[in-house]
Amino acid sequence: MKYPPVILGAQGLLHGGDYNPEQWLAQKDIIWKEDMRLARRAGINTLTVGIFSWGALEPREGVFDFAWLDEVMDMLHQNGIRAILATPSGARPPWMAKAHPEVLRVSASRQKALYGGRHNHCPTSPYYREKVRQMNTLLAARYGAHPALSMWHISNEYGGECHCELCQKAFRDWLRARYGDIDTLNAAWWNGFWSHGYTDFDEIESPSPIGEQTSLGLNLSWRRFCSDQTVDFCREEMAALKAVAPDIPCTTNMMSTYGGVDYFALGKVLDVSSWDNYPAWTNTDSDEAVCLDTAFRHNLMRGVGGQKPFMMMESSPSMVNWHDINGLRMPGTLLLQGLQAVAHGSDSVQYFQFRASRGQSEQFHGAVVSHAGADTRVFREVTAVGQALKALGDVAGCGVKKRAALVYDWENRWAIEQAWMLHRKDKRYEQTVIDWHTALLRVGLPVDVINQTSKLDGYEIIAAPMCFLLRDGFAQRLTAFAQGGGTVVLTCLSGYVDKDGLCFEGGFPGPLKDLAGVRVEEIDALRDGQRNALMYGGARYQTGSVCELSHTQGARVVSTYDESFYRGYPAVTKNACGSGACVYVAARTGTDFMEALLRDIMREMHIKPLTGSLDKGVYAAAREGGGKRYLFVMNTLPTEAAFTPEENAALLYGDYTVSPDDHSRLVLPPRGVCVQVVDVKDA
Ligand code: GLA
Ligand code: ZN
Repeated sequence: MKYPPVILGAQGLLHGGDYNPEQWLAQKDIIWKEDMRLARRAGINTLTVGIFSWGALEPREGVFDFAWLDEVMDMLHQNGIRAILATPSGARPPWMAKAHPEVLRVSASRQKALYGGRHNHCPTSPYYREKVRQMNTLLAARYGAHPALSMWHISNEYGGECHCELCQKAFRDWLRARYGDIDTLNAAWWNGFWSHGYTDFDEIESPSPIGEQTSLGLNLSWRRFCSDQTVDFCREEMAALKAVAPDIPCTTNMMSTYGGVDYFALGKVLDVSSWDNYPAWTNTDSDEAVCLDTAFRHNLMRGVGGQKPFMMMESSPSMVNWHDINGLRMPGTLLLQGLQAVAHGSDSVQYFQFRASRGQSEQFHGAVVSHAGADTRVFREVTAVGQALKALGDVAGCGVKKRAALVYDWENRWAIEQAWMLHRKDKRYEQTVIDWHTALLRVGLPVDVINQTSKLDGYEIIAAPMCFLLRDGFAQRLTAFAQGGGTVVLTCLSGYVDKDGLCFEGGFPGPLKDLAGVRVEEIDALRDGQRNALMYGGARYQTGSVCELSHTQGARVVSTYDESFYRGYPAVTKNACGSGACVYVAARTGTDFMEALLRDIMREMHIKPLTGSLDKGVYAAAREGGGKRYLFVMNTLPTEAAFTPEENAALLYGDYTVSPDDHSRLVLPPRGVCVQVVDVKDA
């Protein structure tokens, strides 16, 4: 089975990016023409326009100008380039702030913003919502049937929060709808503490450094409300477009693990998931670490879109301008960055930006066409990516086979961040999930990233690290998954609080106790440099900075702590559950231990890795569809590395040589990618 194209009218993989022709209106006869010529030369088949065009579309309140955009849309069509048209709500012209100050945000410390920047509207403002509805309706009416139009790009990188009076009222209404009456809310938030019981919803204020900021119930509710408000804003934007042009798919560009929006909730509203990928290639010595971190983000963004193909809506064709140090990337990095996205499920490689702006803060950000023009290394590398994507066109629409799932959940994350315990500033939830992801990749498993509300059937292994907050029903569904034959991996800091942030009584991991077969009594936070250790499979592994002290209640002790007063306490336990099992890892550990554990689980469950022998620093990811499996083998190292190709595989794409020492192995150049294709039985 293959999924339909991510945008209307697409064939094969997409190659393109953000394009801001309105910045060049004064020279459009020369520049626009040149842009089209260069886009075609680079193998670009889609461009995203209108993202920050409100000022050009409505230069003064109620005065509209679509003539330039008419021309751009026609020009794209004539050049065979699919248009992704944005709604301009990501930035507003100054006249709007002056005439309607309610569009400006109020900060948590209750300070009203002045006009400036972008991505900073009040999400509640009735004026702004109405104004956006009007603008989107006009765009849909004018371009909904345009032959170039392939997708709506809703706003840009939604984020942030507003504490204005309109938002306070909306928050109170949201709380009323969730809790019904104030006593229920007081009980759920444990407001007998410090005399914090409310008598009326109107007494509630959003968290603030000049007010309440320590209540887990309040903080969690505020995060949920802000997220819901963003999702609702997006839904309203989409409704205006769909009312006129129902067949055009919608996306909004997300930011992987950005904390302000539950992207699983946003993903449910969108037709297609898309995201902006800006790895810190030049800010570390390890391209491998960058690649593995990015792999998680791709898989997460595929997950929030329901595991369908997604889009890498932005990436830099060379350097960015907002990292601390914005260095140049090594030749070949661009191809690796692009094909890695495709390997994990993206049907597009898109850039920010096509042509560099002459002025303002992004003038020195990388672009396909830079201030030096197109006779450049970067342009040639972009062109090479275009050729690769063309060769790999059949990959478009392929999915990723269900094998292992990894749970990453925004509500859980918010609760962990807000909890007063352990390492106050950083409890390393994100890094811990990424470490498990890295281990799963390294042992050769494709990974679906899911959240606590996702369907669990069809997987062999589910790793659910640090499930501190349990959403209703998750423990039961995870237990049913194990009973049905799967293996669940749980770790320390799981099953501590319910959805409102109240601790589970009777020992952690609360409702997961029967599944894990353990009862946790205490949890230790280690100082920097302080470590414990555990013995596993004859080897000694260092723990990380969190260690739980637990007792078994049915589980078998696999490994114990080696140091401290809790030497001999269980560190790793395994509990049989129906025809499956649950492994509980009581300490944070390194990826070395995670890999060893996962390899043993795979051996016991007769799970085969994705591919055969790979040198260290090389990893694989696969897409499947239309009776084929496309196996991407990626060398993340700045040096050559080898792998053994699959039997019966055709080499579809890649730059490789046969190893002189061992003719059964192929050698990839630094950062080289090779794609093999094999026939598979299609479900
Ligand atoms: C974000 C934005 C773009 C641009 C790039 C620069 O992803 O969406 O408009 O500012 O960053 O890296
Ligand atoms: Zn507001």
